[in-house]
Amino acid sequence: MQELKDKYGRKISYLRLAITDRCNLRCKYCMPANGVDIVNRKELLSYKEMYRITRVLSELGVNKIRLTGGEPFVRKDFMNFLESLSFNDKLDEINITTNGALISKHIKKLEELKINAINLSIDSLQKEKFAKITRRDVFENVFDTFEKLEKSNLKLKLNVVVQSGFNTDEIIDFVELSKNKDIAVRFIEEMPFNGKGQRDMKEEWNYNKIINHINKHFPTVETLLNNKSSTSRNFRIPNYLGTFGIIPAFTRTICNDCNRIRITSTGLFKNCLFDGGVFNVRDFIRNGASDNELKKLFIDTVANKPQNGFVAEAARNNDISESMSSIGG
Ligand code: 5AD
Ligand code: SF4
Repeated sequence: MQELKDKYGRKISYLRLAITDRCNLRCKYCMPANGVDIVNRKELLSYKEMYRITRVLSELGVNKIRLTGGEPFVRKDFMNFLESLSFNDKLDEINITTNGALISKHIKKLEELKINAINLSIDSLQKEKFAKITRRDVFENVFDTFEKLEKSNLKLKLNVVVQSGFNTDEIIDFVELSKNKDIAVRFIEEMPFNGKGQRDMKEEWNYNKIINHINKHFPTVETLLNNKSSTSRNFRIPNYLGTFGIIPAFTRTICNDCNRIRITSTGLFKNCLFDGGVFNVRDFIRNGASDNELKKLFIDTVANKPQNGFVAEAARNNDISESMSSIGG
């Protein structure tokens, strides 16, 4: 079988696909208060194009897909798209990253479709702080969804972007949340993908600082065995039902085992979160590329995947200023 392999021997089996660049929230670390310019609807990949890209990639060994945004549930007919994707028997896992504000009515259907895991973004357990971070009043709604998801048979992960001075006082509360709940809480290092390119923090809450902080409160933290390409390093407090993890998104110590590629909502192919985009799949499709031509393009592009996120960033011809909502989280 043809497959996607880079020159460092990494096999690509995981696609992160952004459904839309639009979002119903305005999280501080992702966008300025008045949002970012959204693209014209025609520039977004259509569902049919996304389905085709996924099918072609799945024939090249991609067996896991994450749907992100923006907020995927903002886009009309997203549930129908999920249903069609679930018919692709080459995909072993379909996961979704969401802010949760629009999904409570879809949970039953998500269970039926056998979606593997939902990654729910929750950066604070306090109503007022949550509103300050997201700049919207959706705390109760998101927490209600959180509880429903926890009771459902979907695997649940919480994404917590660690924001120096904003929610670092809640890190221990978040770990405590894993005591009686079968969830994976994941602390994510903040990255400069905020639509402005600025990242001026008083203190850098990187991986080491986060784990040292947790270790001080819980001296018995157990390190869990990682599955190889996991984005997070994972831990458990003895006898806690759930686990917690840390994603070194900014310090980038996980690149050696990277198995991921990304496609943005406008079809920009990215070998790495930190690269500036390699080519536009949408344009190739709209210019009439055949499946075989698409496959060749993917194979040749992946071969040149940068060794790590630092190399990718250095090779850019512009500074990082895009919002995570356009890249896909
Ligand atoms: N740094 C780290 N994580 C981010 N996300 C969005 N912007 C950033 C950033 N600047 C996260 C969201 C969500 C996922 C889609 O990406 O919190 O969990
Ligand atoms: Fe993969 Fe790039 Fe992220 Fe490293 S920085 S883990 S290579 S996507």
